[in-house]
Amino acid sequence: MQISVSYLTSFYSKEKTINLITKTTADYLHADLMDGLFVANKNFNINEIVPLLKETKIPLDIHLMVLDPIIYIPILKELKPEYITFHLEATKDIIKTIQVLKEAHIKVGLSLKPETEILELMPYLSFIDLVLVMSVEPGAGGQEFLPNTPERLKTLLNYREKYNLNFKIEVDGGINNNTISLIKEADIAVVGSYICKAKNYELQITKLKNIINDIDYLS
Ligand code: DX5
Ligand code: ZN
Repeated sequence: MQISVSYLTSFYSKEKTINLITKTTADYLHADLMDGLFVANKNFNINEIVPLLKETKIPLDIHLMVLDPIIYIPILKELKPEYITFHLEATKDIIKTIQVLKEAHIKVGLSLKPETEILELMPYLSFIDLVLVMSVEPGAGGQEFLPNTPERLKTLLNYREKYNLNFKIEVDGGINNNTISLIKEADIAVVGSYICKAKNYELQITKLKNIINDIDYLS
């Protein structure tokens, strides 16, 4: 399992937190961009965030919690992100948004809120590269992992196998040393406060990777 680190909740500024993450063995930097419309919080200004994220050497995994995600793609593509994920609930133009991302050579992620049925993803699963399963309500870091997540993950794993699809599965929210084992079959775990509210980021990543390695070894 890979670890994508979210800088959303931290003791430090965005700049310092991103810089500290860059020094770790994190597989991705997870950038949560919230517009104050799709979710209540607003945490970015596009002119400030682009230069900030341009500096990082870790592959970028952008999570758009915004209405009308398509309008952000022309500027975000400058960052050459590996993934841009947008929400199923945020636009009527899902196919068009997928096409625009593909034309920009960016891998496509689709996410859904915890109460949206996994079945609603079905029409898009063969066109996308990643499904981001929210294990908390989108909009803030530091929330508790929702107990319906393992069942939702299982449904998605079953679809992937049954229809022979290739999308990766990422789980986001409330992941720590107690909850990571509940999503052991996911490909990528997004982890925010468990890493960025600790003194030693790398130590936290190592603890999570050790838990996963132990599970793999025993199974
Ligand atoms: C929530 C964000 C998450 C969040 C993860 O809206 O999408 O990426 O920052 O943070 P923790 O790990 O603190 O739940
Ligand atoms: Zn996120």
